[in-house]
Amino acid sequence: MKIAVLGASGLLGSAVCRSVIHRGYSLLAYSNRETISFSDQYHSKQLPFSDDNQLTREFFDQWPDAVVNCAAISSPDTVDQSPELAHLVNVEGASRLASISAHIGARFIHISTDMVFDGSTSPYRSTDMPNPLSEYGRQKLESEKRVLSVTDENLAVLRITLLNGNSPLGRRSQHEKILRALMSGKKLTLFDDEIRQPCSVENLSDVIVELIERPNLNGLFHWAGNEEISRYELGIRILKRFGINPENIIRGSIKNPENQGQRPQHLSFILEPLASKVRSVPLSIEEQLKELQIPKDMYTWYRKFADSPNCYIPRF
Ligand SMILES: NC(=O)c1ccc[n+]([C@@H]2O[C@H](COP(=O)([O-])OP(=O)(O)OC[C@H]3O[C@@H](n4cnc5c(N)ncnc54)[C@H](OP(=O)(O)O)[C@@H]3O)[C@@H](O)[C@H]2O)c1
Repeated sequence: MKIAVLGASGLLGSAVCRSVIHRGYSLLAYSNRETISFSDQYHSKQLPFSDDNQLTREFFDQWPDAVVNCAAISSPDTVDQSPELAHLVNVEGASRLASISAHIGARFIHISTDMVFDGSTSPYRSTDMPNPLSEYGRQKLESEKRVLSVTDENLAVLRITLLNGNSPLGRRSQHEKILRALMSGKKLTLFDDEIRQPCSVENLSDVIVELIERPNLNGLFHWAGNEEISRYELGIRILKRFGINPENIIRGSIKNPENQGQRPQHLSFILEPLASKVRSVPLSIEEQLKELQIPKDMYTWYRKFADSPNCYIPRF
């Protein structure tokens, strides 16, 4: 199979590319500005969603068997700063890709988010009524509707939760953002009543490849890890995994008036029916933490900053 992955330079897309190669499929990797090498054979190619003609030409030239859309403006703050630009990627780009994929008969997998829910009645099934609080959540919900309206065959939308993993540039995942904030001398406040059900990108990528392999699994699904945790507790566990003093994180509350608004308080998923249909098993927080690495450009800082850098053995 020839599998096209959009968002290949991102946290999730890069893991999907590795999983595609690992399963022995042929990879077409696409990014926006960054170029990433996955092996001597596979490098990402720049294919911005803004260029509709280039997008169409590329897929008609390459004619992939499956297309995975991990490309997005994935930061809610960035979406708030430029909602129109974000809409072009999160909604228009996704919808255009779904149409092209349907036209060439390629299986299409689109990634969405738990932020389509308001967090008032977790855990959510994929059949529950969404009610996004943020512009990011509203755009992702619109993308789901537009993508699902293209066809009800050969297409799956997978909603996912907060991601743990290692991004190619070492800046996009939770632990990378926490460590970078500490490196720049900031004290971080995380909320002990903002509950999430994090997910490993490696585990999720295996599920995505399984979804490609199983054309009978169509429609809207949920995937996550198998445990809930507060953002504060997750931050503490990340610092402990790397031998860094957990007092570097301050305990805050989402209920403080200045923190209320667009952030759902409690987001978690029921993983059925997908969990009983795929071989992959959702991971615990401990299993997810074991996969995390210190980004290479942070080694020098990390050696000096950590109380016990030896409790984590990085690939120095
Ligand atoms: N991260 C999370 O915790 C999380 C949680 C729930 C759901 N999700 C969803 O999961 C998916 C992947 O998220 P992620 O965290 O892996 O995102 P990410 O690390 O921010 O990566 C986003 C990718 O999209 C590409 N992209 C951005 N603008 C583009 C454009 N105009 N044209 C083409 N490509 C463009 C980026 O390319 P360049 O790097 O080259 O600009 C990058 O490869 C998204 O759909 C997101 O909404 C993420």
